[in-house]
Amino acid sequence: MLGIIGGSGLDQLSGLEITERRACATPYGEPSSDLVFGILRGQTLVFLPRHGADHSIAPHRINYRANLWALHAQGVRNVVAVSTVGGITKRMVAGALVVPDQVIDYTHGRESTYFDGIKQPLQHIDFTLPFCADMRGRLLAAGRVAGYELLDGATYGATQGPRLETAAEISRMERDGADLVGMTGMPEAVLARELGLSYAMLAVVVNSAAGKGDNAKAVSLDDIQAVSEAAMKKVRLILKAMELDHGG
Ligand code: HPA
Repeated sequence: MLGIIGGSGLDQLSGLEITERRACATPYGEPSSDLVFGILRGQTLVFLPRHGADHSIAPHRINYRANLWALHAQGVRNVVAVSTVGGITKRMVAGALVVPDQVIDYTHGRESTYFDGIKQPLQHIDFTLPFCADMRGRLLAAGRVAGYELLDGATYGATQGPRLETAAEISRMERDGADLVGMTGMPEAVLARELGLSYAMLAVVVNSAAGKGDNAKAVSLDDIQAVSEAAMKKVRLILKAMELDHGG
């Protein structure tokens, strides 16, 4: 079953024929909201808004462990995470839709593993390629079917938030090799991997990162809102075009 984790601008999945909302307690506490089960093109999928149904949970306070655990416990094996991001490098302009292939983690103080030696034994996992190649391919194919160009490959840098970054922080991230900046990709991606979920991200560039493009002096939050609304319409069509039945 496919799980969709919605980010800023996608707290609801309109067009989804909702069949059930299910509260789901986990050994790690409560997920961000009830899981929303629905039917899209004849297939059941599960939707979870990571910031909560009313968009009230800050990135560093999201219970990522409960979110991924709840999806897994309900039979989800494939996950598409929709994330709004700032664009750092040239091609990452506002409105671009990107399927990243790498991650750099700048977050701190988040519960970022199940294998912490407390509830589960310490274990080290491979994370060379943080996103599932099959799910990335399915997202890129869905983009083609929906008629939108998705950029294939980018490095996502995860920052702590909820504030945006300074221009110097973005310059450092660029030197590090980050193309995109967002606040929630980690530890979400690694927890998905620890549970054996096939996880890929559809990143929506909603602004040039601090100090970049038109944002030399400040990032306009009003512009972010407008870009996000327009882009999420495309995201919904891409999700609808996704091949749901192949690959489990
Ligand atoms: N920085 C971090 N996260 C973001 C940004 C940004 O500029 N835009 C959207 N999410």
